[in-house]
Amino acid sequence: ISLKPFNTFGIEEKTNFLIEVNDNETLTEIFKRGIFSKNFFVLGAGSNVLFTKPFDGYIIRMASKGIQSKIESDHVYVTAKAGEIWNDFVWHCIRKNYAGIENMALIPGTVGASPVQNIGAYGTELMYVFHSCEAFDTRLGTFKTFKKEDCNFSYRDSIFKTEHKGRFIITEVTYKLSLTPKINTSYGAIEAELVKENITQPSITDIATIVSKIRVEKLPDPSTVGNAGSFFKNPVISADNFERLLTLYPAIPHYPMPDQQTKLAAGWLIEQCGWKGKQYGQAGVWKNQALVLINRQNASGQEIYNLSVQIIRDVQDKFGITLEREVNLL
Ligand code: EPU
Repeated sequence: ISLKPFNTFGIEEKTNFLIEVNDNETLTEIFKRGIFSKNFFVLGAGSNVLFTKPFDGYIIRMASKGIQSKIESDHVYVTAKAGEIWNDFVWHCIRKNYAGIENMALIPGTVGASPVQNIGAYGTELMYVFHSCEAFDTRLGTFKTFKKEDCNFSYRDSIFKTEHKGRFIITEVTYKLSLTPKINTSYGAIEAELVKENITQPSITDIATIVSKIRVEKLPDPSTVGNAGSFFKNPVISADNFERLLTLYPAIPHYPMPDQQTKLAAGWLIEQCGWKGKQYGQAGVWKNQALVLINRQNASGQEIYNLSVQIIRDVQDKFGITLEREVNLL
């Protein structure tokens, strides 16, 4: 079975088995058949994965749909099934005037994947609106609720990527959204766009529209140019290390983080190494955002992987910083 339609990089690799999950009973059934003790991988929209070889096992595709909400004073708890497309979910909430996720419009992927790497963009992160999720335990065959404090969220990270990696399958997520929007324009490009369009009292619709516009300008559309968004994480470094770099590169973009740490812009580091817009066989680096690797036409996953190795090496040589991949390699 070709995996090409199931990964946004558009990589042509095969899998022996593909199972589509539309409800909880299917997961229980898969468990009873012993499939979770074999090699398996769970996919949402396939927007954060790079297949580098044929997958020898079971791809389990989460496709369950449904959204429910419960209003409590000035908040609303919205529960969505794992297979809902994130951006459709964002706009569903905006239409109902449920606020809190408008800055994350147009992030590729599904609801079920959203807590795994604590998705974030344009001034916010999922953890600020996450309430809880339900997940299937592939070891025990039971369902478990994770509250926010159980998830160990941090920048592009959660317990589902660390301690519990590969164990739980998220089946639905509950978000706590607000009925009284607090508009977040902390990201410079949003503010600039509001000024340009002369919007003084932006609605959540305005914010989502502007964010979508910025994303379309900077990021390639996976339906025409295969990609998985940011290929690397922005590196978080110590105060000492940052002091050293700031002396050498006074213009280095940086953001303060907890514990005296500093986050750098990997896209900037990669651009400084001369990679922006460069081709590498059928792979390449996106012309408007060097953090995004692309499949120019018929790249193999291996080719994109090899490009990432070169980039990691160059950034290491120039800045003494080791970039980590954000995308899952399979
Ligand atoms: N920059 C460059 N050259 C580049 C790219 C960026 O110099 O080629 C500089 C920019 O000028 C800016 C800084 O780097 O000063 C940051 O760039 P940008 O605002 O585009 O964001 P990013 O840090 O590169 C992160 C997320 C994106 C998210 C944006 C906006 C990560 C790994 N990526 O990118 O998320 O959309 O911020 O909030 O944290 C994703 O995870 O797939 C993703 C697209």
